[in-house]
Amino acid sequence: MKISIFGSGYVGLVSGACLAEMGNEVLCVDTDPHKIKLLQQGSIPIYEPGLEALVHKNTQAGRLAFTTDVRAGVEHGLFQFIAVGTPPDEDGCADLQHVVAVARSIGEHITGYRVIVNKSTVPVGTADKVRQAVAEVLSNRGLTIQYDVVSNPEFLKEGAAIDDFMKPDRIIIGADNPRTIELLRDLYAPFNRSHDRVVCMDIRSAELTKYAANAMLATKISFMNELANIAERVGADIEQVRIGIGSDPRIGYHFIYPGCGYGGSCFPKDVQALERTAHQAGYSAQVLQAVEAVNQRQKQVLFDKIITHFQGELRGKTFALWGLAFKPNTDDMRAAPSRTLLEALWSQGAKVRAYDPQAMHEAQRVYGTRADFILCEDQESALTGADALVVLTEWNVFRSPDFGKIKQDLKSPVIFDGRNLYDPEHMRDAGFTYYAIGRAHTI
Ligand SMILES: NC(=O)c1ccc[n+]([C@@H]2O[C@H](COP(=O)([O-])OP(=O)(O)OC[C@H]3O[C@@H](n4cnc5c(N)ncnc54)[C@H](O)[C@@H]3O)[C@@H](O)[C@H]2O)c1
Repeated sequence: MKISIFGSGYVGLVSGACLAEMGNEVLCVDTDPHKIKLLQQGSIPIYEPGLEALVHKNTQAGRLAFTTDVRAGVEHGLFQFIAVGTPPDEDGCADLQHVVAVARSIGEHITGYRVIVNKSTVPVGTADKVRQAVAEVLSNRGLTIQYDVVSNPEFLKEGAAIDDFMKPDRIIIGADNPRTIELLRDLYAPFNRSHDRVVCMDIRSAELTKYAANAMLATKISFMNELANIAERVGADIEQVRIGIGSDPRIGYHFIYPGCGYGGSCFPKDVQALERTAHQAGYSAQVLQAVEAVNQRQKQVLFDKIITHFQGELRGKTFALWGLAFKPNTDDMRAAPSRTLLEALWSQGAKVRAYDPQAMHEAQRVYGTRADFILCEDQESALTGADALVVLTEWNVFRSPDFGKIKQDLKSPVIFDGRNLYDPEHMRDAGFTYYAIGRAHTI
């Protein structure tokens, strides 16, 4: 099948490569000429495990191509996927300008029947807006051309995106006519062989399902962080509590890790956007407000521990920072807890020596070159002369470090662990002052 994908970011590029892998002819369209040039030259602008090989394989086979030519995109695909960003506007609502821009481009260049598939995370009612935007442009052109609009939210996780797309837990199709459902079922059939994962529903429910999923996951994290803060204050260990509650199958072990707050391009903006949607519908979404507020506070927790330990004096201190990405296996630093901590440390006159296995370029892009931010070649060199180590991302390479070397290289043996990677007793025996999240004896 012929597919055009508007937006070649984390979602668009992964979807394009995976759909091409199944034998489809995919044209990825992006308005960022630099990104498209890189892709045409065989470079991948983001880090995602397995993506580079998949993109190369499919471009070489002639099934995957990249362009900035919007008209070519509209002409190419029966399926017109929208996978552009939906960042928050100043009010916290999802900013739909890119989605609507794609819809208008489709309206400008459409010449025959098309299925417009919305993969971006968008508030309830967006499919109607897309339909309307296309209709307006078509009416200006004095044309009547058939098209359908479908909601097909994406659930891939950065860091495991290819696997998630190839073996999805579910494929949500929100549609208002059987013709589009059948077309989408055919398109997704290769991803659906062991059992049927397609869940069909009305468009508004499909749009809401994506927010519901992200809000539920964010709620689990904020809930555990709330419990961690209570545990610290009452002399309990959140890691034991986590194992204790996870064994209940109604709760489960997944996604109940306490830490220094959630980040990334999805949870923060999606929780906010859903809360705004509720507000606009005349409902005060109190759980969502609390999830967001707890997360904002949690992103400050490591800084609070640091400033308390150093008795309010951080000027002239240097911190070794392990992990900049918002989670492992990605280079994405959008809304990452590392950013909150970096900015707080700098505001107090501290310096940072940082290392991340993949996000060094992104950190350089975000913060540029500055004297108080040294990007180090490896995790060991970040330690040199630092007053303490702070762990922010649970990359595997940070899980079992050489503690002897850490002790030797730091000015004082102090570790602030935002991901509870280490055993507090082991750390104490090894002579460290060790701070973690929700572990009373490490306050
Ligand atoms: N990143 C994730 O893990 C993830 C997972 C599921 C859903 N989503 C949702 O998918 C959407 C895209 O997210 P992302 O992380 O891939 O974003 P991204 O910022 O990585 O990529 C978006 C791309 O769209 C391009 N773009 C903007 N306007 C355009 C236009 N008019 N025509 C063509 N291209 C245009 C941008 O240049 C950019 O390359 C968002 O709504 C997001 O919430 C993201």
